[in-house]
Amino acid sequence: MRLEMRITELRADDLKLVLRLARTIWPAAYANVLTPAQIENLLDRIYSDENLRTEFAAGHRFWAAWQDTEPVGYASGYREGGIVWLKKLYVLPDRQGHGIGRALMESVIAGFAPVLDLRLFVNGNNIAAQRFYERTGFACIGEQAVRMGDYTFTDKIYRRISR
Ligand SMILES: CC(C)(COP(=O)(O)OP(=O)(O)OC[C@H]1O[C@@H](n2cnc3c(N)ncnc32)[C@H](O)[C@@H]1OP(=O)(O)O)[C@@H](O)C(=O)NCCC(=O)NCCS
Repeated sequence: MRLEMRITELRADDLKLVLRLARTIWPAAYANVLTPAQIENLLDRIYSDENLRTEFAAGHRFWAAWQDTEPVGYASGYREGGIVWLKKLYVLPDRQGHGIGRALMESVIAGFAPVLDLRLFVNGNNIAAQRFYERTGFACIGEQAVRMGDYTFTDKIYRRISR
């Protein structure tokens, strides 16, 4: 049975839902990319209530995807001059591959419209996500060292220009 899916924008008080989803999605998503200690450190640092509220107050907007009453994924983004950064994009492991990631991305684009230059950072070893971004119209435009939690990673920068 194919479940109906809907996407809503989140308010600051809804952000706990993002914390819960991240704790489920990250260990699976990064099992072959990060060590368990790195995953725990990054979850603690990035996915604290305080950090998400700080991002929200700085202009980051968040969306959740729902099937029935269950949240199944989330995305966030922010505008920096002429660039919109897709900051977070995560779907529950057992709901991936059914268009939810693409729909969340489209919600971010619609929310910040017009988006002429959409960019994101993706871990250099997260090959599955890179394939997804290439499939959805992005191209790699470079690499950058990125400090996250207590670690420095080499991320790839992907860009999608509106046609
Ligand atoms: C990356 C992610 C958000 C994609 O969401 P999703 O719901 O699984 O992807 P969708 O079903 O919307 O896929 C959209 C398109 O990309 C393709 N695609 C998705 N994952 C792919 C992969 N690993 N390799 C190749 N193509 C892929 C789909 O086949 C689909 O193509 P189509 O529309 O032409 O049929 C999701 O898989 C995820 O949460 N992964 C783990 C977390 C992560 O790495 N997030 C990114 C952090 S930067």
